[in-house]
Amino acid sequence: MTSPLRNDRFLRALRRQPVDRTPVWLMRQAGRYLPEYRATRKAAGSFLAMAKNPELACEVTLQPLRRFPLDAAILFSDILTVPDAMGLGLYFVEGEGPKFERPVRNAADIARLGVPDMATDLRYVMDAVSTIRRELDGSVPLIGFSGSPWTLACYMVEGGGSKDFARVKSLALNDPAAMHRLLEVTTDAVIAYLSAQRAAGAQALQVFDTWGGVLSPAMYREFSLRYLTRIARELERGDGDGDARAPLILFGKGNGLHVADLAASGTDAVGVDWTIELGEAARRTGGRVALQGNLDPVTLYASPEAIRSEVGRALDSYRDGNGGSREGHVFNLGHGMSPDMDPDHVAVLVEAVHALSAR
Ligand code: CP3
Repeated sequence: MTSPLRNDRFLRALRRQPVDRTPVWLMRQAGRYLPEYRATRKAAGSFLAMAKNPELACEVTLQPLRRFPLDAAILFSDILTVPDAMGLGLYFVEGEGPKFERPVRNAADIARLGVPDMATDLRYVMDAVSTIRRELDGSVPLIGFSGSPWTLACYMVEGGGSKDFARVKSLALNDPAAMHRLLEVTTDAVIAYLSAQRAAGAQALQVFDTWGGVLSPAMYREFSLRYLTRIARELERGDGDGDARAPLILFGKGNGLHVADLAASGTDAVGVDWTIELGEAARRTGGRVALQGNLDPVTLYASPEAIRSEVGRALDSYRDGNGGSREGHVFNLGHGMSPDMDPDHVAVLVEAVHALSAR
């Protein structure tokens, strides 16, 4: 039994339906900037121990919602759970970020990869989704997520983060057939992963193409957009225009050049960063999709006055590019929050979005 949704602003905005205020949530809204997150993480022992424990994943998902009147919750997990379940061995080195014990380097490594079993290998994620959905009790909708095939491939081939993505780009240039096999199997895994999250209770689904913007336009179309489009076409989201359908958001860093192509992919919404004006993105997508974004996260280091003014600028840019209407806008940052941000400034941001967008 699930309770009816009491705040459906976020889902309505994704469907481009009228809302009383522009909905807002923040990428990485659960994280180290919150002292209660740091306490839970310390008690759990590590980030992965926390993410793999459904009760703790639920606790940290709810923490930002207890502080701020956010309009959506996002599953606390990581995009790298999928390659981990494909056998790559995810681990974290303090201060260095994620790493894989067994990166994918050549055609033979790629040939060994398969789609993980969602009911066993990724059971802990589905258990977290159903636990969070139950605990939210209809207060706000729950977003499930995955990495994009290209962004997952970046970590799988590099073995961790990278400055120049030389290994993964070299693989794409030297052996495009092998790269496409890697992206095909990863796309199948992403589709299965998002479908399972939806079945477990996720009410919207976001794909993070964090590293699409490091590609030339031609390589972006071949190695990222093609697979985002396959996800948007094939992912089963449910019928109709009501709450039973889980809308899809394709977010990408540096995807401003490609918003028209993304809007034509079959997605419900496109998430953009701050390097494109929201109004410009709205003009280029012509009302075909909802838009999400796009405040520069660094704005959160600025004064409350500067935060309010930048929030107002982003809201009005969207409205002006969207024919004078605020409909179809989900407010967010253009990328995730950082550990040293001040929770009081987050409160200012959320309050400003709701106050300045009231209809
Ligand atoms: O938005 C949310 O609140 C949901 C949680 C979430 C996390 N990771 C938690 C996390 C989401 C949506 C992600 C996605 C993710 N993970 C992405 C795509 C989004 C983006 O930011 O571009 C990427 C590239 C990753 C890979 C990853 N995982 C990185 C680069 C890091 C940071 C490493 C570090 O030490 O800074 C992680 C770990 C991670 N994932 C943390 C959190 C809160 C920090 C872990 C900790 O507590 O130490």
